[in-house]
Amino acid sequence: MATRPRTGAPRGQSAIGRRHDRWRGLFIAALGSVGVSVIILIVAIAASCGGGHNPSPTSGIEYLNTPSATNTSPATATNTSTNTPVAKTPSATATTQAAGNGNGGNTGNNNGNGGGNSESQDTDNTPLLPCGDILVPLDKDHRLAANCSPPDLVQLPADISAQGAQYMRSQAASALEQMFADAAKAGYQLVANSTYRSYQTQVETFNYWVSVDGLAYAERTSARPGHSEHQLGTVADVGTAAGAYLEDFTGTPEANWLDANCYKYGFIVSYPPGTESITGYASEPWHIRYVGVGTAQQVHASGKTLHQFLLGQ
Ligand code: DAL
Ligand code: ZN
Repeated sequence: MATRPRTGAPRGQSAIGRRHDRWRGLFIAALGSVGVSVIILIVAIAASCGGGHNPSPTSGIEYLNTPSATNTSPATATNTSTNTPVAKTPSATATTQAAGNGNGGNTGNNNGNGGGNSESQDTDNTPLLPCGDILVPLDKDHRLAANCSPPDLVQLPADISAQGAQYMRSQAASALEQMFADAAKAGYQLVANSTYRSYQTQVETFNYWVSVDGLAYAERTSARPGHSEHQLGTVADVGTAAGAYLEDFTGTPEANWLDANCYKYGFIVSYPPGTESITGYASEPWHIRYVGVGTAQQVHASGKTLHQFLLGQ
């Protein structure tokens, strides 16, 4: 008996059954073809609609979002914008004023302008002011470089100095001597008990007041390093020859004379009463800053604080 070929119909299937099997095979094959076509079509549609999810390194959007751009550009931009050693517009205005009115003297002597600044400014991102300009708006929002020191400091005469040797810029020192001489003629004996302070001295000064009064009060009465007008070399804390300094000077006849007359000599009380919300510092009737007679007269007439005036407010 011949064996059925293993490729033929299975044993026991009828012709009809074999025919049905044939149509079923064709049907399944057709279904398979349709299915494959549908899958291909779906893939093709997905590829065309979802192209944005597959970043192209040459498209503008994808270029901005590449990891390298994301990781470096913002940091670089932040550092550049906050640490650039260039003063803001107000200081540029002040520089122009200084050069124009001739009261500044030595406005071209930039000693360490924008350079150095290596001591502890890594957390201080306020703009740097030009060094040597007596009309810079030095305040809590603007600073001098750590290595900025005045070019022409002179020592004040001993008879108008208290609490050690005192130094001011030449022009400011001359004006102070004249003012004190005139005050003495009027019966008011004035001395300078704190004048030029270097950046490093201000570090020690601020830390001292923090240790004495606590940080919150020290912030109202003492400038952080780089932010003190004393670093300009044009400031004097004035006391009485009898030894009334700082708060003890407030309300004395000498303080009243100073307040009424100092502008005539080119000085302005930087932190007058009632201006803490403007200057950031509590009243200091003893702290006067030399800006030149012309500027001092303008500030006096304006009724503004020196701070506002220098900022053009
Ligand atoms: N006492 C003033 C604010 C200074 O430290 O410069
Ligand atoms: Zn002072």
